[in-house]
Amino acid sequence: MEGQNGKHKKFSVLVLVLLLPLISFVSVVVVKPSTGKNLQVRKGSTFKITIFADLHFGEDTWTSWGPLQDIHSTKVMSFILDQEKPDFVIYLGDVLTADNIPIANASLYWDQALSPTKDRCIPWAAVFGNHDDAHFIWPTEWFSDSGIPPLKCSSLISSSSGEDNCIFMGTTRLQLMNHDIGSSALSFSQKGPNNLWPSVSNYVLKISSSDDSESPVAYLYFLDSGGGTYPEVISTVQAKWFNSTAQEINPDSRVPEIIFWHIPSRAYKTVAPSGVINKPCVGSINKESVAPQEAEHGIMKALEARPSVQAVFVGHNHGLDWCCPYKKFWLCFTRHSGYGGYGNWTRGARVLEINEQPFSLKSWITMEDGSLHSHVFLSS
Ligand SMILES: *[C@@H]1O[C@H](CO)[C@@H](O)[C@H](O)[C@H]1NC(C)=O
Ligand SMILES: *[C@@H]1O[C@H](CO)[C@@H](O)[C@H](O)[C@H]1NC(C)=O
Ligand SMILES: *[C@@H]1O[C@H](CO)[C@@H](O)[C@H](O)[C@H]1NC(C)=O
Ligand SMILES: [Zn+2]
Repeated sequence: MEGQNGKHKKFSVLVLVLLLPLISFVSVVVVKPSTGKNLQVRKGSTFKITIFADLHFGEDTWTSWGPLQDIHSTKVMSFILDQEKPDFVIYLGDVLTADNIPIANASLYWDQALSPTKDRCIPWAAVFGNHDDAHFIWPTEWFSDSGIPPLKCSSLISSSSGEDNCIFMGTTRLQLMNHDIGSSALSFSQKGPNNLWPSVSNYVLKISSSDDSESPVAYLYFLDSGGGTYPEVISTVQAKWFNSTAQEINPDSRVPEIIFWHIPSRAYKTVAPSGVINKPCVGSINKESVAPQEAEHGIMKALEARPSVQAVFVGHNHGLDWCCPYKKFWLCFTRHSGYGGYGNWTRGARVLEINEQPFSLKSWITMEDGSLHSHVFLSS
């Protein structure tokens, strides 16, 4: 028994040693992140994205006008989602007018803005605009005593000069993003690498092929163009983060890359049509001049160096909806989708349609009255 047992042990050890590389190989394959969450093209279908920009929920909550605008905006989104039936929704910033929300937690209004998408079980991702974490502006005469929001005072300032230096802090970008991420498994939003904070909405998502969930069809990059409590820029570190991430996951630029942020970069000014929108630009409204970021810190250089970049999509200017070519890719506006915020131009949303084989990126604007216009191919 004893000897046999010993032999048996030796044999087991031998088998184990022989199997070890195989076992570790198998375990690597098994453990390898199939993270559960995946955006994948459906078999025999295109991948359709609807972009909602500048909804401005929570604006002028103390009037009857404000809450009514939010009801209209909800209708616009619901109608467009039923019309387009997208696979994915992108909230392209200024989801809120957070400098207008007289309650401690802006996440209630955030939930209202997300509800048409969530109710239809459509996954989404959000990127922040300049209004999503702005300081609360609060002339006290707007509120009844009970309606006055809680104050956060810097003890240093308030001790010397009193109440005027108290500001209502509202909900920070990080709190808002944590709320979004925690609100539903449908959220694909991320709070980005913490070395980029307080710039929070910086992340990349992969859309994978219908027949292989590991094989990428396109990468969607989200960048936080700031505003509110800090400058309206994409910083040098963000540009570096984009560059190194793209180099790492798509070193040979083989996979198309599509970029989203809220405030147009200064490059938009160089391609903006004057007056009528003529070819090669495509669009239907050009009613404002481009309101660009405060400075350019290298993101455009990084994009220009990558032949895989197809297009950049921004909101911010509510009355612009054109796409114009810039170097080897496109710069596009989305026009406003919401009734909150400035301007009374008809509301609409930009739609992107990705075809996987061969790759193509098509876009158009879908309106609250059901009309479609400004169709354009954004892939070469
Ligand atoms: C707001 O509410 C959410 C939950 O709905 C919570 O996670 C978050 O911490 C709250 N933020 C503030 C500033 O109260
Ligand atoms: C991007 O990264 C590559 C390689 O790491 C580097 O050669 C290039 O200069 C970087 N470009 C920019 C614009 O940062
Ligand atoms: C906005 O447009 C609607 C419908 O076209 C009109 O009824 C409303 O008065 C306009 N509002 C402003 C502020 O111009
Ligand atoms: Zn806006």
